[in-house]
Amino acid sequence: MTRNMPCILNIALACAAWLASPALTMNASGRQLSSSRTVWDGVYTEEQATRGQTQYMQTCAACHAKDLRGGSVVPSLVEESFSFLFGGASVGELFSRIQRLMPSDRPNSLSSQSYCDIVAFILQSNKFPSGAKELDADLETLRRITVTTKQPEAQATQPQAQPMDRFVTVNGLRIHYLDWGADGKPPLIMLHGIGRVAHTFDHIATHFNKNYHVMAVDMRGHGESGWDPQGDYLVEDYVKDIEGLAQQLQLRNIVIWGNSTGGRVAQVFAGLHPDLTAAVISEDVGPERPREIADGVTSRIKQEDEKGWASEDELFAQLKAGNARTSDDVLRAYAHYGSKHRPDGRIIWKRDPKIGNGFVPTELWRFVSQIKSPIIYILGGRSTIVPAETQQVLKKTLSQVQIVTMPGLGHYPSEENPTDFLAIVDRFLAETSAAK
Ligand code: HEC
Repeated sequence: MTRNMPCILNIALACAAWLASPALTMNASGRQLSSSRTVWDGVYTEEQATRGQTQYMQTCAACHAKDLRGGSVVPSLVEESFSFLFGGASVGELFSRIQRLMPSDRPNSLSSQSYCDIVAFILQSNKFPSGAKELDADLETLRRITVTTKQPEAQATQPQAQPMDRFVTVNGLRIHYLDWGADGKPPLIMLHGIGRVAHTFDHIATHFNKNYHVMAVDMRGHGESGWDPQGDYLVEDYVKDIEGLAQQLQLRNIVIWGNSTGGRVAQVFAGLHPDLTAAVISEDVGPERPREIADGVTSRIKQEDEKGWASEDELFAQLKAGNARTSDDVLRAYAHYGSKHRPDGRIIWKRDPKIGNGFVPTELWRFVSQIKSPIIYILGGRSTIVPAETQQVLKKTLSQVQIVTMPGLGHYPSEENPTDFLAIVDRFLAETSAAK
């Protein structure tokens, strides 16, 4: 991982963008022939589906019902009925049939755009994923998207030695995550701390992706994910994004792991969604963030962005000086994927300076007390962030809680001593799945 990496990364991103666009093939005369796009490729946006929903409720729900399940003489527009009617057809066909025939009492009475939005809503109701671009009301384009209710083979992935870059659009933001493969296995979501990036889990992700579908998320404002225009970066805001991700990918039985701020997000998610959560790993963080810790982050962010570093190597050297126990690989990944070039060429962190807004005194007991799944807090012995009194309250609040302290370590035990940390997690997860 040296300084020429940004080029490789750019090429990889360009390729990802290219792959996401319709794959057109040309015949000998250069005419565009066909495409391999299906409804699984994220062909509409959430916003569009919301517009379509409003239109549907006004125009279609009286006959097809609010839940789209139809009635005695009106077909359901979801599930088997939908695949029976449209499986193997194109979205263009779906669109033009609706436009030509519906509403049955006054066909073709809406604008093409409205019909298109309704189609987006029907796709969403059939649990096809949303994407970054709206469904285009152009019939030719729509004809090149196939309706297939079977998720394509390519999406049922193998464990990866290198992650795939994937995105979901939730709450108006594009959220990037690293997909380490093994889709179909129980999901394991990894959430980083403030100012960090998904790639800081690279050194441990492959330890889990034989048994879990590992997804390491760039939280909003960080890494490749979008920045919130209002600067909303409270724990609850990050949680909304994970809820959106879980919903779009239809995740259940989730093992959720976070360090630092990511650990707070994990605790809140687990408290709000006991039905979706299989286990929680909270790395050196509890339900409270006292003022001493909250203070000073915004000014540090500002200082860092003003000063910057001459090179990635210089940033790495600074990280190394402050994290002597952490291996070079981990810190190199952090410095590389967590930074970007300022216009003048200096290196700064790749994160929204407004993330400091969310770094305020925080108290999450009302969520934590609702956690029903197994939960383990793995703390660094030198870290003071979860004091003995708080540990006592945790034990009183959650009868199932486990608290393990790793002597001599600081705020990121999984980075400082991955071997012992992983042994603790393996034991915890083995118990968790045995208890089911
Ligand atoms: C007045 C009642 C009524 C309204 C309003 C209505 N539909 Fe229908 N729809 C039906 C009936 C009845 C059928 C089945 C008979 C048929 O295929 O014509 C049907 C069939 C369909 C089909 C299947 C068509 C096919 O290819 O066989 C779709 C898709 C559909 N409706 C979508 C919609 C949408 C979208 C709207 C709103 C824009 C809508 N409908 C409004 C009564 C209605």
